[in-house]
Amino acid sequence: MAPPLSNIPNAVSQKAQAHPFPTGPRLNYAPAPPWHHRRRFRKVLLAFLLVTVAAGYWRWHAPLLAHARLVYWQHECANHMMAPDEIVASTDGPAKSAAKPMPPAWISYAAQCLSTTTASASFRNPAFLQTIAFLHARRSPAGHERIVAVRCIVMYLSSASVVQAFQPVVVEPAKPWPLASRPILHDGLFPGGYPIHMPVRVFGGQPDPADASHFTIAYTVNDLPGVIDGRLGDNDTVKLSVRPGSADVIKAFVTQPPAPQIADIAREYKKLQSMTRDAVFVNPELAMLCRGASWQDVEGAKVTSGPHANTRVRIYMNDLAAKAFRASSPKYPVGSVIVKQKQGEGYFDKTRKTVQTPDGVGGMVKRAPGFDADHGDWEYFYFQDASRIESGKIPSCVQCHAGAAKDHVFGSWAKG
Ligand code: HEC
Repeated sequence: MAPPLSNIPNAVSQKAQAHPFPTGPRLNYAPAPPWHHRRRFRKVLLAFLLVTVAAGYWRWHAPLLAHARLVYWQHECANHMMAPDEIVASTDGPAKSAAKPMPPAWISYAAQCLSTTTASASFRNPAFLQTIAFLHARRSPAGHERIVAVRCIVMYLSSASVVQAFQPVVVEPAKPWPLASRPILHDGLFPGGYPIHMPVRVFGGQPDPADASHFTIAYTVNDLPGVIDGRLGDNDTVKLSVRPGSADVIKAFVTQPPAPQIADIAREYKKLQSMTRDAVFVNPELAMLCRGASWQDVEGAKVTSGPHANTRVRIYMNDLAAKAFRASSPKYPVGSVIVKQKQGEGYFDKTRKTVQTPDGVGGMVKRAPGFDADHGDWEYFYFQDASRIESGKIPSCVQCHAGAAKDHVFGSWAKG
């Protein structure tokens, strides 16, 4: 007999009965999201960030922008390149001087942070033409990273001469952070400026790829080439020197002070170093004659001692000349000034009347190479009255001084 229907196991109903409300272990749901993923929290965070950014912007945007600009221009200066054949400054005398405009990167950088004399805005004086002959990052031997600029300045002086000068400027760059970090300027001294009577061209300076502390500035004088070497030292100075074999005249620009003007010397020569303790007799033989020198004596002495015979002289020299004289150096440096002040002692003429020889001032100034190359490049001057000065390559002076022992300087007064 078949079992009653109700006894036949029914898989469906059994299943249904087994699981209407599961009673087994609870299923493992995904863990609750961490607190920082919760939607509410994110909203708060976003709002907080917005407020912070807005407040930060309000408080910091000006200094941030200024600093970003500074760092940007600094970067441009550090990477500034000039074409090696571009002429940055040139002169053919006062009327024909020219200089390229300052690089915009330098103007912006300098205007934001450097001394006003270095920023071009302050150079509105038409007597100055300034530009930059070199601008790039350099690293000193000890590893100091700096931005080096060399200002190249063409100046018109009152005497209508032109001076070309180079001034290195070293900048310790600002750091990107903190915002208050500022570049530090080590303003170079003028190494010197010199009058230019010849055509000069200065070309864009080049960093040396093989030596991080070194750069070069090429130039020509009278179309003869020359090179200025620049080296960044560990003490934040740049040394400029003229490479041996270069066209000579720029050496003077780099190492010497401006050329002496004869009118200034005539006015101020007594302030120079006095090389004679007292007035000395130029011709001891004449001085030894215990009487006034006669006309014949003077004429005779003139042959051996020059037109300065029978006069007492005081010799003055500027520091450059005095140094060369004391060192017995065979050549006097450009810019040397030697002045001889003569006091006439008078003599008896044929009729035994006293003839007073006039006082006078004679001098010689060492000019740049090329001034009078065959005669030591000395310019002579002579006056009895400072308002009427004779100067130049005065033939009588030139000829007689050509026979002097050391670079056209006799110096025999020093032995007296
Ligand atoms: C005939 C030769 C002769 C002529 C010309 C002559 N000098 Fe001299 N000069 C001398 C002698 C010699 C001395 C050194 C003795 C003395 O001090 O007088 C001298 C000295 C000087 C000195 C001092 C430096 C030195 O060489 O010892 C000056 C400066 C000077 N002369 C300027 C002139 C000027 C400027 C003229 C032209 C206006 C001139 N001389 C023309 C012979 C000459």
